[in-house]
Amino acid sequence: MSSYLIKGGNKLRGSVDISGSKNAALGVIAAAMLVDGECLLENVPEIRDIEVMLQICASAGAQVERVVQNNVQAIRIDARNLHPDCNLSDSTRQIRASYYLLGALLGKLHAVRMKMPGGCNFGSRPMDQHYKGFAALGAQVETKQGDILLRAGQEGLTGAHIMLDVVSVGATINLMIAACKARGRTFIQNAAKEPHIVDVANFLNAMGAKIIGAGTDIIRVDGVETLPGGKTYSVIPDQIEAGTYMIAAAVTRGDVVVRNIIPRHMEPLTIKLKAMGITTDIGPDYCRICADEDLEIKPATFKTTPYPGFPTDLQPQTTVLLTQAKGKSCMIESVWATRYQYIGDLITMGASIEVQGSYANVTGPSALSATRVVARDLRAGAAMVIAALAAEGETQVEDAEVVKRGYERLEEKLSALGASIRLVP
Ligand code: EPU
Repeated sequence: MSSYLIKGGNKLRGSVDISGSKNAALGVIAAAMLVDGECLLENVPEIRDIEVMLQICASAGAQVERVVQNNVQAIRIDARNLHPDCNLSDSTRQIRASYYLLGALLGKLHAVRMKMPGGCNFGSRPMDQHYKGFAALGAQVETKQGDILLRAGQEGLTGAHIMLDVVSVGATINLMIAACKARGRTFIQNAAKEPHIVDVANFLNAMGAKIIGAGTDIIRVDGVETLPGGKTYSVIPDQIEAGTYMIAAAVTRGDVVVRNIIPRHMEPLTIKLKAMGITTDIGPDYCRICADEDLEIKPATFKTTPYPGFPTDLQPQTTVLLTQAKGKSCMIESVWATRYQYIGDLITMGASIEVQGSYANVTGPSALSATRVVARDLRAGAAMVIAALAAEGETQVEDAEVVKRGYERLEEKLSALGASIRLVP
């Protein structure tokens, strides 16, 4: 495993272009397996999780090719000739989003078998809502010896009225994908509303699906026999990557224009940053974040909730910002009960934080100092990088690969903003 070596103290300055959304692209690639023609995907980030997803699709028989068209990089996927055995490669264990292939292959081949998905370890990551939805669509669901087996009859799935007991991004996308080829109409009630759910729905509709309501809490899908495809689709910008750079700009007392974003998606963060006294200058597709050296950052309370609430995937990065606010701040994590594994590392760096259940009570401002820390999961790793950028001395962030899973060209982008960061084996 490699590490990042980061010399702290440089204020980030300049502009950074945000890449395509990891979580949207993962859903879109899986959904492309349902399509009966070619599709061309643009703005897909070059990161490890995407590589793994593409390899799994290729091993299932899809033709996957990187191409350059009109000077734009794209990925061509043709899933017309999938292997009929419905067994997915064991690489599905490496990433969480491989679970979307359950919905896609169940919809297309009427059966699928795969290993339990992997991804960041926040303790328990149940899939009961996925299973419940597949069963409502008429599939038999079996889990044994680390395998998931789904089988529909020869006729395939049948539309159903599904009520999710938990607002789940994964279950919403998975069931929406599966329902596209079910006979009849499906409703997904209490659906999640994250931007990448809308993106996957837009992609599927562009390929011939009939989905309405994505982005609201009731999604309606009218099943179609085929999804002709044959279209080009561009993935939305990454809300979480954008938020990570915005927070890094504020924590280092920098001045950064974060470009190629959808400002609406950033509101759960930008509204709060503004309330903390940080300058947020928002344009049609950018946001400038500026925090002067002498600015007294105001304390704040954040609570993570499903979109349009504050995203849990920005929780660790935001907690670093709270260590720089003057007074008592509070982070409340309501999505992943055990997403505070990184707090010990921040305390070692000099932060004053007390965790009580889902509450992290932060007293600031704290001067952070360099030490050796670990990227315990993707977003915790991003938080360590941000803390290191503001710390005095050279911090080693171990297991950099964990961060590279989700951030395209992180060292390059941060270096261009003036950070001192290098990757060492
Ligand atoms: N849940 C259930 N049952 C289910 C599914 C979820 O109880 O069947 C619970 C979970 O335990 C959790 C809550 O519902 O408490 C939300 O989980 P959700 O299903 O929404 O999460 P996910 O689909 O597994 C995606 C992202 C995560 C992000 C969460 C929440 C992808 C590939 N992953 O996970 O992203 O934290 O939504 O927004 O889209 C990341 O990118 O770093 C990441 C972890």
